[in-house]
Amino acid sequence: MPAQIKVSKVNHNLIFHLTNSNISYILGVEEHDVLTHYYFGKRVNDYSGVLSYPRLDRSFSPNFADATDRNYSIDTFPQEYPSFGAGDFREPAVVVDQANGSSITQFAYQDYQITDGKQTLAGLPSTFADSADAKTLSIRLYDHVAKITVKLNYTIFADSTIITRSTKIENNGEQPVVIRRATSMNLDIPRNNYQLLQLPGRYAEERQLFIEDINPGIKVLDSKRSASSHMQSPFFALVTPGINEQSGTAYGFSLIYSGSHKSMIQKDPYEQLRIQMGINDFNFNWQLAKKQSFQTPEVMMNYSDHGLNALSQSFHQLIQHHLIRSKFVDKPRPILINNWEATYFDFDEEKIQRIIKKSAELGVELFVLDDGWFGHRNDDKSSLGDWYVNKQKLPNGLSSLANLTHKLNMKFGLWFEPEMISADSDLYREHPDWAIQTPNRPMSLGRDQYVLDFGRKEIRDNIFKQMCAILDHADIDYIKWDMNRNITELYNRNLPAAQQGEAAHRYILGVYDFMDKLTTRYPNILFEGCSGGGGRFDAGMLYYTPQIWTSDNTDAAERVRIQYGTSLVFPPVAMGAHVSKVTNPNTGRTIDINFRSMVASSANMGYELDPFTLTDEQIKVVETENQWYKDNRDLIQFGQLYRLISPFKNNQAAWMFVNDNQSEAIVMFFNLMNQPSYPLTVLKLQGLDPDTKYQINGRQIAYGSELMNLGFYPMGQPTHDFTSARFEIKKVSSHAE
Ligand code: DGJ
Repeated sequence: MPAQIKVSKVNHNLIFHLTNSNISYILGVEEHDVLTHYYFGKRVNDYSGVLSYPRLDRSFSPNFADATDRNYSIDTFPQEYPSFGAGDFREPAVVVDQANGSSITQFAYQDYQITDGKQTLAGLPSTFADSADAKTLSIRLYDHVAKITVKLNYTIFADSTIITRSTKIENNGEQPVVIRRATSMNLDIPRNNYQLLQLPGRYAEERQLFIEDINPGIKVLDSKRSASSHMQSPFFALVTPGINEQSGTAYGFSLIYSGSHKSMIQKDPYEQLRIQMGINDFNFNWQLAKKQSFQTPEVMMNYSDHGLNALSQSFHQLIQHHLIRSKFVDKPRPILINNWEATYFDFDEEKIQRIIKKSAELGVELFVLDDGWFGHRNDDKSSLGDWYVNKQKLPNGLSSLANLTHKLNMKFGLWFEPEMISADSDLYREHPDWAIQTPNRPMSLGRDQYVLDFGRKEIRDNIFKQMCAILDHADIDYIKWDMNRNITELYNRNLPAAQQGEAAHRYILGVYDFMDKLTTRYPNILFEGCSGGGGRFDAGMLYYTPQIWTSDNTDAAERVRIQYGTSLVFPPVAMGAHVSKVTNPNTGRTIDINFRSMVASSANMGYELDPFTLTDEQIKVVETENQWYKDNRDLIQFGQLYRLISPFKNNQAAWMFVNDNQSEAIVMFFNLMNQPSYPLTVLKLQGLDPDTKYQINGRQIAYGSELMNLGFYPMGQPTHDFTSARFEIKKVSSHAE
């Protein structure tokens, strides 16, 4: 069913109903022009006014100035974009300081507009859609005293369970105002028993799934790092207790933003929930001169009444079809080999040439030259900002390596860390003030490097020019964009004192501006995002880079959890996953090549090892696995993901990929630690056609209904830790039957 926005009047109130075949989002205008929230969830035919909020006199809940009774108070009322100071004591969605020192606002409904499709937001990554695929509702609210307009944008997509929201604030007065908080969305939800699901983590342990009760008061999930961060993914969900992959209700919220973010979950005194998501308002302010406006990032708001897996599939679809704008979005991704864990900084031309040649023999399709090819960088203490070839290491330059790689029918990729500067660099010696720093304060180090202020155009222009000189000269097919520290002593030298609260957001806007220019100028380069692994794995980055290095933790057992958690929001094709060397540098663990391969081949597969360290037997596995991945990557990269067993609750994990017409599936099962007298696990599949007969690994034949309801035993007694099994499920052709 196409997306629809119905406008009607119920009991004199204007009602907006955004709907498609799956969901409904209903809002309206009540007395005093309060924009009221009614519903977000499973599709309903229409709204007839059944969920009218009871009018009752609550002590200590104020009434409007001209109220004739005490039964109407915004203190407890469900609103779409509440503010503070005129009756609602809960968390406001917006706070604006005005010329007279007041920060009180109360926004009243003005008018609306409905448009076909979905425009992208100026300067920010955001979803997009043609006129046939979506409808957008824009509602204007106005504060008559402060003379500020708030424009709320809602987009509903055909056949999706996701609504996107963002907010624009405009100063219509004569005096400048200062925004101190502008959330992208606010949702007020009636009393309920939802729990909070989040994806906290840390370096090399990103996006670990965590569920907790929601108690009275305020819970904040945030990042103050000027990056979305390893520590707190800009995502959370409200879920019914006992939620699992296939059943239970879930509301998922993912912010399309890569900087400091904040999600707020408030359980009010009446056990109603208020939730908000957006730019972190900590150390944030934004000055709006007369007629100026401020656009918040966008939030994807997702609903599922079929558990977490359906929620994820919906995110994956929207991200693939309406967010990632790279032309590579629907192209099979090459198997890459990255030299980082093979050599670190210790390489020369000959070593790299040998790795390239050997990788070509193994069936690898893209070679990526990682950190250490530029300036005089032999460790992580120098040369960031000097983007010219280190001729001592690579006397014949990048072109010679790129040409060799191309001759062997492989693509050539290169690592950059554009946002950074080393104290030991020509760039720093020339422009020490380009590193972010607060006057008179010592500059904290992070990995022995500083951050360039990408909020300043002159700095971006310099790095852009340097990168273009490399890219225009050598034939580069892929770029890994890394970012290896967070910002301290944040201060933008181009801004006056009163506007320093803009520095963090201006930095991210600068990064986006840079990425926009770079990806537009080089549409044929495949970009991979990275931030010390998955420190900036967010929907904002995916708009520009269709894949992201999921984690520096390449231990396959750890990766099962990291990839499982990441897949809650992001599709497997977006997740870089490499077979890495053993002993693993992160954990000191040795896991056999079959298990390592199976974990990597369940996402966007690559290698991170020196191929010369492989035994003959391992080489055979690598060759076979590469061919297998090439034959099956369409299904893995573009099929539907079904998570079957969670490694967050079990000593096992399992997931599967199903193609569009349900004729093929690939199932992967992982047993982590071995146990003597192993308790047998039954694996029940998902997403197959119940009435179709399937053959498993070319042997046993069973109906889809059997595989999904009876299931099967994927493994007998394992012989060691970290064992895996893969099942290829194929529809039996009528001929074979
Ligand atoms: C961090 C990345 O995550 C690694 O893959 C590698 O590129 C290093 N940086 C290089 O410095």
